[in-house]
Amino acid sequence: MLLKINEAVDFIKNIYDVKPTVGIVLGSGLGNFINEIKISKEISYKDIPYFPMSTVEGHDGKLIFGELGGKKIVAMSGRFHYYEGYSSEQIVFPIRVLKYLGIDTLLITNAAGGVNPAFKVGDLMIINDHISQLIPNPLVGKNYKEFGSRFPDMSEPYKKSLIAKVKKIATEKNIKVQEGVYVAVTGPTFETHAEYKMILRLGGDAVGMSTVQEVITAVHLGLPVFAMSVITDVGIRDDDNIITHEEVLQAAKDVEPIFKILICELIAQL
Ligand code: HPA
Repeated sequence: MLLKINEAVDFIKNIYDVKPTVGIVLGSGLGNFINEIKISKEISYKDIPYFPMSTVEGHDGKLIFGELGGKKIVAMSGRFHYYEGYSSEQIVFPIRVLKYLGIDTLLITNAAGGVNPAFKVGDLMIINDHISQLIPNPLVGKNYKEFGSRFPDMSEPYKKSLIAKVKKIATEKNIKVQEGVYVAVTGPTFETHAEYKMILRLGGDAVGMSTVQEVITAVHLGLPVFAMSVITDVGIRDDDNIITHEEVLQAAKDVEPIFKILICELIAQL
C-alpha cells in the first residue's frame, strides 16, 4: 500500500511539482466549481498508477492543480463510490495520495438526500458529524502506522474551527446554511420510504453514498476536514415523488453559485 501510494505521488510530482495546501473533493453535479480555479495542471486519473477511474455520470476523472483564494489547491474532479464496486482501499487511495502530496486541509462536498423534515431541495448542509455504520469502514484490515493509529479517535471528524468559519461567512454573506449529521449508505439504490424513516430515527439529517470513508481516512491521517452537502432531494415525501439521478444533478447545479461562494471564501480564510 505504501509503495503504491509513493509510486502515485512520485508520478504526479514528476508531472507537476508544486505542493498544494488544500485538497477538495467535488461531489455529484458540483464539477463546475473547477471554473473558479486558476488551473496550472490537470492529470487524468487513468494516467496515475493505481488510481481507480470514475464510472458515474456527473463525475469527471481528473486531479486539478491550481490556485484559488490565494492558496495552492488540488481538486479531485470525480470521486469513487462503494457502489461502483471498488474496495474501500481503492475508494480512499486518492485521499492518501493527496495527504502525501502535502495538503494540510481537506474539503469534501457531496449531493445528499434530506431526511430532516425542515430541509428543502437546494439547501446547503454543513456536516457536523456522521454515522458510518451502514457502509464498510475503510480502515478494516492491516493498520499502517505511517498513516495513523489502529483505533483513531472520531470525536471531531469535522473540524469545529472550520465549521465556525463557514457559519460566520454564511452569516456575513446572508447565505442560509443548515447543519447536521450525514448518514452514509452503500447505494446505488435510493432509499425506500422505510429506510428514509429509519435514517431519521437513527439521528441522521441527510443521507448519501459517499464522503464518510474519505473522512475516516483523512482523520486517520491527521487531516482536518470540512464537509458540506447539497440537499438534492428530500427523502420523506409524498408517495409519488420519485428520485432520479438527473434530478440530483440538476439540484446540485442550481445551488452551485452559492456553494462556490462559501467554499472559495473558506479557502481564502484558511
Ligand atoms: N439518498 C442517497 N444518496 C443520495 C440521495 C438520497 O436521497 N440524494 C443524493 N444522493
